[in-house]
Formats: sequence, structure tokens, C-alpha cells
Amino acid sequence: MSLKETYLKNASELGQPGQFSETRYVGWRSPSNIALIKYWGKKANQIPQNPSFSFTLSKSFTETTTEYSWHSENNLKLDFSFEGKINGLFAQKVEDYLRSITCYLPFLTHLYLKIESSNSFPHSSGIASSASSMSALALCLVEMENDLFHSLRDPEDFYRKASFLARLGSGSAARSVYGGFVVWGKDGIEKDSTDEAGVSYKVISNNTFLSLKDAILVTSLKEKKVSSSKGHGMMNVHPYSEARVQQANSNLKALNAAILSENDQNFISIIENEALSLHALMLSSDPGYNLLNHNTWQIINQIRDFRKRTGLFIAFSLDAGPNVHLIYKQQNSDTIEKFIQEKLVNYCENGYWIDDKIGSGPVKIK
Ligand code: DP6
Repeated sequence: MSLKETYLKNASELGQPGQFSETRYVGWRSPSNIALIKYWGKKANQIPQNPSFSFTLSKSFTETTTEYSWHSENNLKLDFSFEGKINGLFAQKVEDYLRSITCYLPFLTHLYLKIESSNSFPHSSGIASSASSMSALALCLVEMENDLFHSLRDPEDFYRKASFLARLGSGSAARSVYGGFVVWGKDGIEKDSTDEAGVSYKVISNNTFLSLKDAILVTSLKEKKVSSSKGHGMMNVHPYSEARVQQANSNLKALNAAILSENDQNFISIIENEALSLHALMLSSDPGYNLLNHNTWQIINQIRDFRKRTGLFIAFSLDAGPNVHLIYKQQNSDTIEKFIQEKLVNYCENGYWIDDKIGSGPVKIK
């Protein structure tokens, strides 16, 4: 049975909660993630064209708290605020999302929800806020289900359903409900992998890739020109679409091998190939578009030079925007942070960068 079928069946079995008169609270902090194998292109219902692989960050997160109380009408009621202010556009998106998932969480139509959300990083700075925000919201929702019905007491069930629901809000959010490395999409490396939700990717605890750091070098704080949803859409008619699916699958297999054998060189060439392939796909879409700027390329060139000169493990990744994710290992922190300060900060807007790293996943805050 697919997860979709399982959750639809569960929903019909759960029914409605009994009436309650108090206001209840839940809250989750959920981090963003950086994809090393990129999700680019999707089928109907947020099913990815290809498997993706990411690590969850630590300092770049969304905190979402939800107050909820019972009402007798059969209609979802919502107040939503972002960073302390009512935000009509976001509120509408959240409402549409909640309405779209009432088939999995029918109890929502008897609740009055007051949702507040805020990010630890500037909105629309190219840091994947949909991953952190949709995963934080999905975690609040499964927490509410568990509170009302005790139906998700096994943590494995809890996080799987959170990931499934997060995916329906934003694909990359499916990966943010777990810490460390995460795979989303049917692949040849994790036996439980599925297109419907993320799964943790486990490596032995002394593997040095578990100490990865991510310096997010913000070359522009402007809102991006083309949304990810539009970009995914263009992949449906992209001339390289089929080749991209093959490339992502073979890069994922090769990345898995590089991590298990701790092969730094292969790891670097795969993740940089993924970052540049993502942007090459955007450039060759119809209409083609470019999200990178002059400073993105300056930073990439500096990283390549530095790697040549020092032989240290240093690599870049890119999201759907002009900011550079500089990936390195904890053991080289001192040298690389000096390099960032001396050579790269000048290319960041207002000198802004985030000193982030691989994290242990979402945390319940209420
Ligand atoms: C380039 O998850 O933002 O960051 O499912 O439409 O919400 P939607 O797209 P989204 O796409 C992220 C694309 C990416 C690569 C990745 O994170 O894998």
C-alpha cells in the first residue's frame, strides 16, 4: 500500500476528535537543508522526477507555533502571522495547503488555528525557507494529530507522516524533518526510500562527512526572479529532462560510494557537478533564465583557486539562487573561516554570510 493510501485509510478510521474547551499549543523548530543531489522537476502531486540527497542545516531554521481550539462548524478557521505581522499572501498559501491536506487530517475542519511563524534568516535571501517552514508546519500538524488521537506514538510513524505532509507543501521540505543526511525519492541506495517521503541516510558515526560545515555566502538579499515551482514546471518540457533523471541517479550512486569510502575528490566533483547542472538546466529552459550573478562566479573561482593552492577539502553548492554554499569539514574550520573573512566576505551583500553546519534535525519547542 502506498503512503497516500495508508494515510487516507487512517484518516477515515480516525474520524473527528471529541469536543474540547481549552486552547492547546504545539511548536516546532525545523531547519532548512542543502541538497547535494538536486530535486529538479516533478510529476503530479509533488512526486519528484529524480531522487535527491541533502543534509539538514542547524542554524537556518523556521520556528512555528500553533494554538488550536475546537469549534463545531465543519470549516477550517485560520489566523496566520509571519514574524509578528499578518501576511496575507503567506496566510493564503498556508490556508490553501491546509485545505489540500484535510483528506489526511480531517480533524482540521473542526479547529480554529492560530499559527505564528518566523525564520532565523532573512526571508527570500535564497535560503530555502519553504523547506524549513513547510516542515515546521507539518511537524506541528502531526503533533496535533498525535495529541488528539495518540495515533503517531511510534517516532518512525510520526516523522514519516510529517515528511509526507511536508512534501505536499514543498518537495524539499520532505527532507528537513530528519537530521543529518536524507534521501527523498526512490533510489538504488536506501532500501526504504520512496517518492512519497524522505528517509534518513545512515553512515557510521566517525565518517568525516558527518562534520560538514556550510558557510552560506549571501551574494544577494533580493527575492529570486523565478520561483522554484516555475523552474520545476519547465522541466516537463525540457530537452534534457530524461538525461537529467539519469544524471541525478548516477550521481547519487557515486555520491553514496564517495561518502562510504570517504573519497573527498569524488565527493567534491559530484556535488559541484550537481550545482552547476541545476543552473545549466535553468539556462537551457524555455524561456532560459539565469539566477547567478557576478559575485557568485567570483566566489566559485576563489574556491577553486584556494582548493588548488591548499589541497584542502572545500567545495561549493548552489540552491535555486545566487548564494554560494561553501562546504568544508569541521577539522579545517580555522583556515577556511580565515579565507572567508579575507577573500569572500567582500562578495557578500552587506558582508552577510551564515556560519552553518550539518544539524541533528527539528526540535519540539512547545
Ligand atoms: C533547487 O522544494 O522549493 O532547492 O516542491 O515546488 O516547493 P517545490 O520546490 P522546492 O525546490 C527546491 C529545489 C532546489 C533543489 C533541492 O532542494 O533539492
